[in-house]
Amino acid sequence: MKHYWQKKPLLVRQAIPGFGAMIDRQGLLDLACRDDAESRLVRQSRGRWQVEYGPQTLEGLKRLPKRDWTVLVQGVNLLVPEADTLMRAFNFIPYARLDDLMVSFAPTGGGVGPHFDSYDVFLIQGLGQRRWEIGAQQDKSLVPNAPLRILKNFQPEETWDLEPGDMLYLPPQYAHNGVALTDCMTWSVGFRAYPAQDIAMQFLIYLQDNLEIEGVYSDPDIKPTRHPGKIPGTMLKQFKAMLRAIRWDRKDIEDFIGAYLSEPKQNVFFDPPERPPAFTRFATQARQQGLQLDKRSNLLYRKKVFFMNGEHVEVAPEHIPTLRHFADARALAPGFSADETLLLLFHEWLCAGYLVLPRNSRRAT
Ligand code: SIN
Ligand code: CO
Repeated sequence: MKHYWQKKPLLVRQAIPGFGAMIDRQGLLDLACRDDAESRLVRQSRGRWQVEYGPQTLEGLKRLPKRDWTVLVQGVNLLVPEADTLMRAFNFIPYARLDDLMVSFAPTGGGVGPHFDSYDVFLIQGLGQRRWEIGAQQDKSLVPNAPLRILKNFQPEETWDLEPGDMLYLPPQYAHNGVALTDCMTWSVGFRAYPAQDIAMQFLIYLQDNLEIEGVYSDPDIKPTRHPGKIPGTMLKQFKAMLRAIRWDRKDIEDFIGAYLSEPKQNVFFDPPERPPAFTRFATQARQQGLQLDKRSNLLYRKKVFFMNGEHVEVAPEHIPTLRHFADARALAPGFSADETLLLLFHEWLCAGYLVLPRNSRRAT
């Protein structure tokens, strides 16, 4: 982290020895056809790029040529439990920085062209070989009118051929181009780059929902006017005073940040159990089997405050250690310590689909 994170690329040969069999070509193409998956088909012929957004159709994918295309599926961690496990192996970086795991398949020649991303990424080679060319170039000009961001003057400085299990880390803004040398699958663990403009806009929305400002404009002393088009000075003065009453403190900022960072993406929908167990049955099962966060859930904390999927949760001080452990490990082992109040909260989360009893957790592929 000290030498590479957000600073310079790092190639790790055999970062994950034996990696590759989790999803095969057909498995990925099937995911690309699902309507709950975000996918892209990128094609290139004679220097012209083409992008088709999913869901893809199996017939369309069958008709593709032998080479020079790639299918990319975003958020595979939400669709395949083993993919979530792989992504969580990067938990030496805070979950609040994590975005998702994207998987691509390409036959020979396929790729998305030379480009740069605004976020950090770990590119793990699954199947086959991919040639990565990378460069620290400052010239960020793009090919005009292309349907995806392609660098106009890509100048590679280093080239590596990655084999299954090899991994390449790239910091934000680092130019790269990955071309499949054979049938090839790449797994990208991507992080989030939060634009200041977005944080500010979302904070203003938070304020709008949480602000209460007293008072109504009044002007009992107003004089008759010969210039009704003119805005009276007294109006300006009162409006200014009202606007100055828009205030926020540290708690507002911390609450906003926790809710913002733990808010699931717009395309995430939870899957509440159809027939959730009654509380007493749940309490026994949870103690015996332990609990797991659903793979869509974000549980974060800051000091004594917790945030579950965008919602602020107040808890008693004695529950803090268990909840922190739950947030860090994303699971509680059988026999975890919890009184009835905490179990009631967990039961509520189970009914909302935010957590699962481990026995049921592997069903959602
Ligand atoms: C890919 O998997 O083909 C693209 C990954 C990237 O360059 O960001
Ligand atoms: Co990229």
